[in-house]
Amino acid sequence: MNILGIETSCDETAASVVVDGRLVRSNVISSQIALHRAHGGVVPELAARGQVQAIVPVVQAAIAESGLERRDLDAIAFTHGPGLAGSLIVGVNAAKALGYALDLPLVPVNHLEAHVYANWLRPTMGDDPGEPALPAVCLLVSGGHTEIRLMDADEAGRDTILGRTLDDAAGEAFDKGARLLGLGYPGGPAIQRAAAGGDPAAFDLPRARLGDSLDFSFSGLKTALLRIVEPYRLPAEAAPPDPAALFPKHRPPRFDETLPLADLAASFEQAIVDILAEKTARAALTHGARTVMIAGGVAANRHLRDRLVQGVAKVFSGASMPVPPVRWPEFAFCTDNAAMVAGLGYRLLCAGRTGDLRTDAYPRFPSAHPGAR
Ligand code: KG4
Ligand code: ZN
Repeated sequence: MNILGIETSCDETAASVVVDGRLVRSNVISSQIALHRAHGGVVPELAARGQVQAIVPVVQAAIAESGLERRDLDAIAFTHGPGLAGSLIVGVNAAKALGYALDLPLVPVNHLEAHVYANWLRPTMGDDPGEPALPAVCLLVSGGHTEIRLMDADEAGRDTILGRTLDDAAGEAFDKGARLLGLGYPGGPAIQRAAAGGDPAAFDLPRARLGDSLDFSFSGLKTALLRIVEPYRLPAEAAPPDPAALFPKHRPPRFDETLPLADLAASFEQAIVDILAEKTARAALTHGARTVMIAGGVAANRHLRDRLVQGVAKVFSGASMPVPPVRWPEFAFCTDNAAMVAGLGYRLLCAGRTGDLRTDAYPRFPSAHPGAR
């Protein structure tokens, strides 16, 4: 079955055609990063306008690149939450219009579950590792969410949330840290780049362990970073005007050249990655996971991957269970994309979980099933 996926939950407009839930035939993404960079983060109104401009060409390109015709499509899957309301309604309405015109079933998809599902997609290069073995523990780390999920049934929406952030999401912590360091948006890749060659042990930044809990907290880390950089900050008038800054309010901070930027970025990255890896590995052992997965934009982080592999090997070393494989989606399927939406859409369609023309956007979609935390 050929499923067209549409993803418009934030600042990316994406469409993709996936066959039988795993084989990606096309994956088109139009990014608005350049548009939002001047503001230091996503501006919802601009994002919505950008979605309206991009949606038709992106969907057309995804169908054309798949080599299929519109009549070859079997269903349309689309993200209907959570996300920015103005962005979501563009994808929801495009999907409904196309579904009505082509007389195809509509499959609404939860954006977070789609991120997790990215681990089921066949990589476009290299060998197919097959589907992840269950039970699995998945660390979902995006710009808006940070959760550890337990999946013990092969059914979307039945995950149990073992832990989640009490304040900032991991991606948000990267974005805010990058802004404090004047590194720009999006913060994750900027911090990873700035950290190259830096000493991750140079600054002892706080790691909120919260006892035995699998919850996270990143707000203290941000404050600690602010305290360290403050003495290096140049007064606003000493900084030359930034041609990219539209408003003085968004002018990035300037620092004395003695600011140890690489060490700070490396230490900041390490503090986030350590706690994510430590708690995920612990959750995997407690729940006897046969697979450990990462999903969401922060899954693109190389240090997080390395640290999680080490962490899982360490906690399972004395246990009687085999060490579970740690997997993550191919890079293009970590950050927002529509292949993950089309892929999960296929599973939902097979389970009869379809929507109709009344299906709406849910910006604050409740996470996981009602029995979960
Ligand atoms: O999943 P995603 O594309 O969008 C949301 O659903 O939020 O995640 C975006 C987040 C941003 O916060 C971005 O800074 C972070 O993912 N990110 C990274 C990296 N690439 C993207 N964080 C750390 N390291 C990276 N390499
Ligand atoms: Zn996302």
